[in-house]
Amino acid sequence: MNGRNVVLGVTGSIAAYKAVALASALVKAGALVDVVMTGAAQRFVTPLSFQAITHRPVVTDLWAGGEDLEIGHVTLGRRADVVVIAPATADTIARLAHGLAGDALGTTVLATDAPIIVAPAMEPRMWSNAATVANVAILRQRGILVLEPDVGRLASGYKGRGRMPEPDAIFDVVSGVLARGVSLRGRIVVVTAGGTREPIDPVRFIGNHSSGKMGIALAEAARDRGASVILVHGALSVQVPAGVDARPVGTTREMADAIHAAVEGADALIMAAAPADFRVARAADQKIKRGAGSMSLELVANPDILASLASWPGVKIGFAAETTDLIANARSKVAAKRVHMIVANDVTAEGSGFGADTNEVAFIFADGRVEPRPLETKRAVADAILDVVASALQQPVEPSTP
Ligand code: CTP
Repeated sequence: MNGRNVVLGVTGSIAAYKAVALASALVKAGALVDVVMTGAAQRFVTPLSFQAITHRPVVTDLWAGGEDLEIGHVTLGRRADVVVIAPATADTIARLAHGLAGDALGTTVLATDAPIIVAPAMEPRMWSNAATVANVAILRQRGILVLEPDVGRLASGYKGRGRMPEPDAIFDVVSGVLARGVSLRGRIVVVTAGGTREPIDPVRFIGNHSSGKMGIALAEAARDRGASVILVHGALSVQVPAGVDARPVGTTREMADAIHAAVEGADALIMAAAPADFRVARAADQKIKRGAGSMSLELVANPDILASLASWPGVKIGFAAETTDLIANARSKVAAKRVHMIVANDVTAEGSGFGADTNEVAFIFADGRVEPRPLETKRAVADAILDVVASALQQPVEPSTP
């Protein structure tokens, strides 16, 4: 973070004291940190606490100006490499959503082109209130990165979602944004996750072991880079992340329809879902009875969703779940599905595949390049995939020829 300009907005929450630790971590990492405090924030922490850590004047008053006009709020906003508001109260979020500029923080935010990170802190009921939900949605649509608050005990004694994320988590987001930028701001990215289910009868289905973790990590990572994310998902063993447009589906054919609708006007499709390749030819209307003790099912092929989007012009990323001949099988899928890249993954390898939090994959590009990656978290794999998507969106798309 050496020499990068970070504006730290601090607003009126008990969590303001944690912003001192955040400021300290940013300064230690070499950032030039300018703190802007609202009046309410100063009821919790004094400007002197921040000044002592940042060795810079703290902006508390829109009308101050005075000796050092260079430290004006407009100048701060213009030269910022990133603006982080931590803690951000419900009131601050509402003001940001409406572009209010009655204080130094509001003006700084309006005057900046830099990425903005908001770390909310409030009572759970305020966070889930319809007004806050709508305001957060507005901010996210504008490419502002609103972090999900933590769940835990609040100063009031209540438990729930509303605690400001810990300073080291915010620090990681700030350093990620400074390193990678909001490379997908203004882009629409469709991510698919989880397995589909094909009914046998009203109580049974054919499914698979997909947990949806990889797709969820992708949706989160794309959201964190400022993209509008549409998440078409089947069965998941993890929560849908906040701030994404989640569209649940059941069968592969439903997933195909939802994806065809979602990609209209979208920039990229990342197909991490595991759609069932076969469905039962004639699902029973009533529960099949144990009867004679044996039965057989006739299965018919489902559509290959990625292949059906051959003429769609956006950036397409597929996955290949393999148990043998990883690279060779993945290579043939790049061609068959006409994608920019296949993320190949040996689902039998240690630490990889279904249900794991980590993955060891190889990127197989349409131009034949193979890039093996180390065993890493699914979030790290997601970030690497999004680097590929972001750079592909800078160039004309060249799908492979069948
Ligand atoms: N996929 C798809 N439609 C299907 C099945 C899979 O679009 N009906 C997508 C997956 O989401 C993944 C890629 O195609 O991105 C490869 O999926 P995979 O299961 O590895 O391959 P299949 O095409 O199903 O081929 P096979 O099962 O023969 O390996």
